[in-house]
Amino acid sequence: MKQKIAVIGQGYVGLPLAIAAAEAGFYVNGLETNEDRVTKISSGVIPIEDLSSARVNKQIELGRYKISNDFSVIKESSVILICVPTPLNANNQPDLSFLNSSVTEISRYLSPGTLVILESTVEPGTTRNILLPALTYGSGLNSDQVDVAFSPERIDPTNKVWNLKTTPKIVSGITELARKRASKFYSKFINTVIECDSPEIAETAKLIENSFRLVNISFINEISIFCNRLGIDVEKVIEAASTKPYGFMPFYPSIGVGGHCIPVDPIYLANAAKSVGVSARFIELADQINQEMPGYFVGRAEEKLTSLQNKKILVVGVSYKPNVADVRETPVEALIFGLKNKGAETFWHDDLVKDWNGEKSVALSNKYDLAILATPHDYLDLTKLGDVPILNTRGSN
Ligand SMILES: NC(=O)c1ccc[n+]([C@@H]2O[C@H](COP(=O)([O-])OP(=O)(O)OC[C@H]3O[C@@H](n4cnc5c(N)ncnc54)[C@H](O)[C@@H]3O)[C@@H](O)[C@H]2O)c1
Repeated sequence: MKQKIAVIGQGYVGLPLAIAAAEAGFYVNGLETNEDRVTKISSGVIPIEDLSSARVNKQIELGRYKISNDFSVIKESSVILICVPTPLNANNQPDLSFLNSSVTEISRYLSPGTLVILESTVEPGTTRNILLPALTYGSGLNSDQVDVAFSPERIDPTNKVWNLKTTPKIVSGITELARKRASKFYSKFINTVIECDSPEIAETAKLIENSFRLVNISFINEISIFCNRLGIDVEKVIEAASTKPYGFMPFYPSIGVGGHCIPVDPIYLANAAKSVGVSARFIELADQINQEMPGYFVGRAEEKLTSLQNKKILVVGVSYKPNVADVRETPVEALIFGLKNKGAETFWHDDLVKDWNGEKSVALSNKYDLAILATPHDYLDLTKLGDVPILNTRGSN
């Protein structure tokens, strides 16, 4: 019998998951509220670097994958995966509006016996105290008629070794049955599935994974500022420290963290800590250092040129990390804002991003007073800058 499932949200997390499940033999409905995305993906235009249009098209042709905004397909889905955004709102607080609206739609069509798995990153307690009651309230089902699980996504865009199949996946459930069902489901297309005792453990594990990165990246960025002032090559420092075979893990300097996860998820954790009267000072300090990095590089640019007034500055690479087109929470936005504020005439080059904030990527050329290498994509040929001085946010100079 065809086993039908639905994946809500067809973005960086939901689309690759939907295709992996389709390749494992499930009949997958990808549900997406962004009409433009529905049209593009249906016609084979895939906005995700790690997923080829050939893979998506093959599943569409086989009839195993379909994207739409028709939530009535939930009725016939035995498993529902929720992969909607969980950003921060204007007050830097968790924004569950996408989760709430998707759950409202799901619960309209929810049948008894369905397994609902949340993959979006959330605060501890959200699966049990928000998702489950919203599903039962909206559907009229009792809590023992729906199996609710939480299994956080661990995708690392462009990572060639650790992909959806090879990255171990943690799985938890409100009940043992929900956890076992979720574990069995993922085992069909993920090599290693690890069961956690409770959703709260899995929710917190996801948050500390990304908080660990934020804290360590901010730490090395602060050390890189210190090394720069002392004239010590920070890259060589990291290389030397990395020879220690235990107890050290290298992190590298940058203009700061970006993307939908690393700058956002730790704030979910800090917020949860605050709600029970506990402080999360490491996260707060790391967040502050992270936010100060673009301003630091504006200062470095000013030092190089004495004044930025009317200087032509080219920012090279604007996405949040190399070799992706994702500009969500990119620290480069604050860098450009800071440069403009000091009177510079700014331009940017990024062939992966092309259009951004109403501006277009310009060619690399020698007509600038300074180039700031913000995000070093592999394709970049910096020789095209000729003798333009380069401020490298990733290195020691
Ligand atoms: N991108 C990553 O690398 C990554 C890694 C791990 C975890 N996560 C987490 O996964 C979740 C999703 O992140 P993402 O990067 O895939 O986001 P995304 O913005 O790329 O994709 C989410 C999609 O959901 C759609 N959507 C929003 N509301 C909807 C609704 N009510 N119904 C159907 N579709 C809806 C959006 O239009 C969008 O296309 C977040 O909680 C994020 O923190 C992301």
